[in-house]
Amino acid sequence: MKDHFTMDAPQPRLLDEMKQGVIGTPMDRPDGPQKVSGTAGYAADHTTENMVHGVLVRATITRGRVRQIDKSSVEAIDGVIDVITDARMIRNPAQGMAGSAPVQPGDAVHYHGQPIAVVVAETFEAARDAAQRLAVHYETEEAAVTPETSTDVETGEPETAGDFEAAWSGSEVTVDKTYTTGAHAAAAMEPHAAIAEWKDGAVTLRSALQMVRFNKKELADTLGIDPSNVRILAPFIGGGFGSKLGLGPEAAAAAIAAEKLGRPVRVVMTRQNVFDTVLRRSETSQRVRFGATKAGKITAIAHDDRVSNIDGEGFAEPVTQASQFLYGADGLSFTQTLARIATTPAGSVRAPGEAVGMLAFEAALDELAEKLGIDPVQLRLDNLPETHPMDGRPYSARRLADCLKDGAERFGWADRGAPGSRREGDWQIGMGVASAARANMLIKSSSRVRLTGNRAIVETDMTDIGTGTYAILAQIAAEALGLDPSHVEVRLGDSDLPGASGSGGSFGANSAGSATFLAAKKIRARIAEALGCAEDSLTLQNGLARGDNREAALTDLVTEEFLEEATVKAGKTSESHFSSGFGAHFAEVAVHEWTGEVRVRRMLGVMSMGRILNEKTARSQAIGGMIWGIGSALTEEMQSDPRDGHVVTRDLANYHVPAHADVPGQMQVVFLEERDDYANPIQTKGIGELGISGAGGAILNAIAHATGRRVYDYPATPDRVL
Ligand code: MOS
Repeated sequence: MKDHFTMDAPQPRLLDEMKQGVIGTPMDRPDGPQKVSGTAGYAADHTTENMVHGVLVRATITRGRVRQIDKSSVEAIDGVIDVITDARMIRNPAQGMAGSAPVQPGDAVHYHGQPIAVVVAETFEAARDAAQRLAVHYETEEAAVTPETSTDVETGEPETAGDFEAAWSGSEVTVDKTYTTGAHAAAAMEPHAAIAEWKDGAVTLRSALQMVRFNKKELADTLGIDPSNVRILAPFIGGGFGSKLGLGPEAAAAAIAAEKLGRPVRVVMTRQNVFDTVLRRSETSQRVRFGATKAGKITAIAHDDRVSNIDGEGFAEPVTQASQFLYGADGLSFTQTLARIATTPAGSVRAPGEAVGMLAFEAALDELAEKLGIDPVQLRLDNLPETHPMDGRPYSARRLADCLKDGAERFGWADRGAPGSRREGDWQIGMGVASAARANMLIKSSSRVRLTGNRAIVETDMTDIGTGTYAILAQIAAEALGLDPSHVEVRLGDSDLPGASGSGGSFGANSAGSATFLAAKKIRARIAEALGCAEDSLTLQNGLARGDNREAALTDLVTEEFLEEATVKAGKTSESHFSSGFGAHFAEVAVHEWTGEVRVRRMLGVMSMGRILNEKTARSQAIGGMIWGIGSALTEEMQSDPRDGHVVTRDLANYHVPAHADVPGQMQVVFLEERDDYANPIQTKGIGELGISGAGGAILNAIAHATGRRVYDYPATPDRVL
């Protein structure tokens, strides 16, 4: 029944042959009515009999040890049941794909705000009161909280191609600039929450998590139990953006407390908790060097960065990811430095790497274009490499040149005029461009399809974090089986279902979508067999099976359930070819001459991101990404107190994500038709993160075009723009 498929050869475009007209259409989300009517159950919505409430107690020192927790300090509070400390409590959120949680046993404190205990009470209010009043005695240690003051700094080996130094010294025109970007919060709308309940030695955890298959293993490892005794339920998730990739401290605390007390425990983070405790994107410092000939051929590229994390965490923001494959040069060099600091741990936040790396990289390229006197669109077009500049792999599908040209045409790029030449009253107007790129991935993923009559069920532990998974998996199964999409039920977010990729790295649709397609394809084979026709002559339409002059309604043909499961894995095609989404972002801004206020007036993203599965959810993803671009270019920065590292931007008033008033009415997204035969069996590419990658760069370049001045420290707040 179960079938493994490894991506070892270019794949036939079978989805194009089905011709049902379901794939690609802007179908509404089947889960939409539940979401807008408040009947979609998010983790914290669940209540169960006998449930008690846990609130995390968080360290109020920067680094050191917990010497003593004085439980008597809260015993008098009505309703308090217990103060639980346990070596298995997670100090840092996991990274999801690591597959096991970074449990840090013992009493060490690594940052201000780190969870050190959980208070459990009959009511949330009592638990919160006790968590705030609990007397904790510490031993404190000195710790650096900024990369500049850190004494634990390590620089990795450079990643190179060709001879950068020789190419750099031979360059006729050079740009050598250093940029900084602020730390970012994922700031998902739904705060992190978990409810744990034990029965007969097994735990069920309802939590907001992106990668259920991995999270199950993380929880089992944390608790020291067999994964078969863990069930995770995450049917609805209110945004993740990386912050829910891995099991969080609230989930581990709920499970540990529920086990100890023998009652279901709910732990919900406040917004402030989320900012303090859930991973951040590292701030960065980036030196970018471009060398070129006077004629505009890029000869040398170097992108060196410094990022930070707390002690012992493996993750380092992959800043130069896209810089390594966008443009060609004789010599390329990329070096990363990691500084250890004591503040909220760093991890994956949407488009880890590109989201900040491309801000600097695409801005430096714009500066090179200006220096050369070459149009920035043309400079990019002139320097697209034949193959991956670092390893020589051919690109599987790359319509970057088309995106740049098409975008320039649609945006009216030719009329943009000289820098600083356009104004309306006190407003200076400018246009900017940046390339978009985000590597495309396929992760092992399984899916099960059941067909009875003309109704199908798709089952996988894949998640829908707001991206539209419920819609696209229904569309894939409907397309492949010739069904109306309303006849396909999609069940997600339950670890008892076949293990999927989860949602992360924009690989969810590729991976879970391919597995669903392959399972549906196996069902097609069974239908052909039942009908008595050859599989390749079978057509399925409106619940009718036809082939080799035979015809039958599925309701007559499939009277007993057909059940098939399939697994897709990456394989040789990712070694032979390099797959990435590409695009071009264009932005027009108005900069106020006296206040430095920047208003984004319009944005256009032209993207080639493989087959579009759902025109509506894909567009929403792309626009959402571009709005992230506005945030990272102009407003978003997590700030910590330079004395003790505690996060001071702890809510959505202080951490400013773009609101409606910050987003222009004209946010246009154009998809260029594309099939990537080397990516996966359904020829798709990741969408969510491509929208953000480069988008902020276009805004920064537009500011430079408007004012004639460049900003090197981001976000480009008014004080920095003036
Ligand atoms: Mo994404 S940052 O891999 O959820």
